[in-house]
Amino acid sequence: MNDGDGTLAARAQDRRFGPLGTALVIIPTYNEAENIKAIVGRVRKAVPEAHVLVADDNSPDGTGKLADELAAEDGQVHVLHRKGKEGLGAAYLAGFRWGLERDYGVLIEMDADGSHQPEELPRLLTALKGADLVLGSRWVPGGRVVNWPRSREFLSRGGSTYSRLMLDVPIRDVTGGYRAFRRETLEGLGLDQVASQGYCFQVDLARRAVRAGYHVVEVPITFVERELGDSKMSRDIVVEALWRVTSWGVGERVSKLTGRRGGTSR
Ligand code: GDD
Ligand code: MN
Repeated sequence: MNDGDGTLAARAQDRRFGPLGTALVIIPTYNEAENIKAIVGRVRKAVPEAHVLVADDNSPDGTGKLADELAAEDGQVHVLHRKGKEGLGAAYLAGFRWGLERDYGVLIEMDADGSHQPEELPRLLTALKGADLVLGSRWVPGGRVVNWPRSREFLSRGGSTYSRLMLDVPIRDVTGGYRAFRRETLEGLGLDQVASQGYCFQVDLARRAVRAGYHVVEVPITFVERELGDSKMSRDIVVEALWRVTSWGVGERVSKLTGRRGGTSR
């Protein structure tokens, strides 16, 4: 990837990356009762050595209970029960903390609804052998989206383009949610300062990784729109993303002008 800074890219290529360690696939859920068993089963089959953590926000449809049933029969499946719906970002932060407190070397983000195909995970992990962070990407050559309405594709492409230009991050799919982090990368991102709640959480982590000089690689994926249950995308989520991305971008420009570093402001 061209990270806009030749020296950074060269340094990343010279670096030696350590072995990967055990992977934890974190799946945030809110009302995914129709999807949870299938997705966990597919992950266990696609990457049998990996563990799964379901981070459920006390879903009214009983997703948490179904996840408990899976955990009871499989020692590699774990459940993090959270009090109530606090957004995707908060669920992932709790999941990351859970994983970092334990012995996992790789932490993975994956949606519960089948949009992120577990069968593509080995490809992400292979790429992670030579990277600090791998992003499953819809908007690089070879990446695509199946069954999305034009309106949603427009929103997602627009959001990625706006974020890329506003934040000056050389990533095509900045909002995507299928990702593999090395433990050390997450430890270096300053997670305690992340305030993003909704989907702009993804943009927030991507920009932090680029600013911190990590080697970020995009791998093409086929994103398949869910068949069961509903998207949690809402107007509030779009509004939060828009104002946060805009304020990060403006903040960085101002601090460049005034000579102060504002790279990871909230
Ligand atoms: N625990 C928890 N709490 N989980 C949540 C919450 C929440 O408040 N909101 C959403 N989720 C879970 C869903 O249950 C699902 O597993 C996953 O997060 C993604 O939610 P969807 O509602 O299916 O997202 P989407 O398909 O509209 O959006 C996709 O595209 C976004 C923009 O590119 C996802 O891949 C997002 O990660 C991505 O940012
Ligand atoms: Mn979805």
